[in-house]
Amino acid sequence: MTVETKSRKKEAHSIILAAGMGTRMKSKRSKVLHEVSGLPMIEIVLRLAREVSKKITVIVSEENQKEINVLLKEGEKSIIQKERLGTGHAVNIALESIMQSDAEKVLILYGDTPLVRVETLEDIINKNNDVTFLGFINQDSSNKYGRLVTEGEKLIEIIEFKDATDEQRQISICNSGVVCVERNFIIDAINKLEPSNVTGEYYLTDIAHIANSQSKKCGFILCSENEVIGVNSREDLFLVDSIMQERIKKIHMQNGVTFLLPQTIYVHLDAKIEKDVLIEQGCFIGKSVEIKEDVTVRAFSHLEGCILESGVIVGPFARIRPKSFLDKNARVGNFVEVKNAKIGKDSKANHLAYLGDVTVEEGCNIGAGTIFCNYNGFEKFHSNVGKGSFIGSNSTIVSPVNVASGTIIGAGSVIVSSTQEDTLVIARAKEISIIGGGKKFRDKKKK
Ligand code: UD1
Ligand code: MG
Repeated sequence: MTVETKSRKKEAHSIILAAGMGTRMKSKRSKVLHEVSGLPMIEIVLRLAREVSKKITVIVSEENQKEINVLLKEGEKSIIQKERLGTGHAVNIALESIMQSDAEKVLILYGDTPLVRVETLEDIINKNNDVTFLGFINQDSSNKYGRLVTEGEKLIEIIEFKDATDEQRQISICNSGVVCVERNFIIDAINKLEPSNVTGEYYLTDIAHIANSQSKKCGFILCSENEVIGVNSREDLFLVDSIMQERIKKIHMQNGVTFLLPQTIYVHLDAKIEKDVLIEQGCFIGKSVEIKEDVTVRAFSHLEGCILESGVIVGPFARIRPKSFLDKNARVGNFVEVKNAKIGKDSKANHLAYLGDVTVEEGCNIGAGTIFCNYNGFEKFHSNVGKGSFIGSNSTIVSPVNVASGTIIGAGSVIVSSTQEDTLVIARAKEISIIGGGKKFRDKKKK
């Protein structure tokens, strides 16, 4: 979604720094596995890296390696950094893998910085320098980023905030962390890093100073601050996610989708939405959702793992769960839950129903309050509702049942057996009327 797949030059060897839990997240889960618009941050960074890299190495911790490995593709590798001794140390861990690669440029990315644009990565790789840092402007002298000391286009050194004097903190060019380095230079420079006097950490940023001492070309490019917000806390996560949401919805709008009150709608990064779709306020468009042309999703609906064919109307207040397929012009109305179900063309379930593990063929009407009892406490069962069937309100279909086409089921029925074509089935207690019985009852009570 954010990464448009074009044929790009994939020249760099990307090192993604993703070790550490991120204590400020106050979570059992490693920071880079927290999700932004439905995907773990690290997966978003991996996708970006794939656009510009011939090789990817991820620096991980013992705690998150297993989960990160699941996200890696063939040829991508993770290496554990046991002790976290700083960004310079983290890159040193990847040294062997850098030496084994024939990529001329090494691109260093952070697993907790998922908003960077692929065009920016291309710009930094294409810069004709030995070292190029990605900077941005922030005028707030109390921000905690490293500061870029520059002379024209030249980057002289980077001073970490913790180590900076008050005067240096006034510098408004800040370090994003992203940097692209000539392969041979990083191999040489990484072992020359000394631990900081203040924190004891090995700073990757010190390679700027080393480059200059060896008369290498050391420079920088600038991007917008929005691209390089790093996630350290839940508030940062919210901020990054909000920016990603804005980007996602903007792209859908450009493709012809209308959102009512878009700021109240959440759209997964990979959602596919075609033109002339209307999505009303308060909707959640989750993982693996495909919405075809001319669909309306009415307010406060929750969609996951489903395909809505053209002309479908869903909601308000509908819940469409995974493995659901709503065929052309189907209607699923308020307080209807659909799960692992196929709803045929022009079929309707307009009010208060549960359609779980069922195939409803075309032209059916499922009355209000109908429940498909798909679960006996141990196993799940599937039912089929044939073409043109009508299921009266408040019916209970005890799966597995085959409701043959053209069946009419009377309201309030409990259906346990399959039906024959065009049958009328009524399965409820017989109604009895006692004429005058009401009066008799009242008179007795009044005495
Ligand atoms: C770093 C930069 C700083 C920059 C800021 C931008 C250095 C020395 N400083 O500081 O100039 O303004 O990012 O956000 O590089 N990591 C490891 N192993 C380690 C240390 C870090 O994998 O031993 C990873 C972290 O998980 C994180 C990234 O590297 O993804 C950055 O580390 P962090 O400690 O957040 O660096 P900052 O102090 O923010
Ligand atoms: Mg940080």
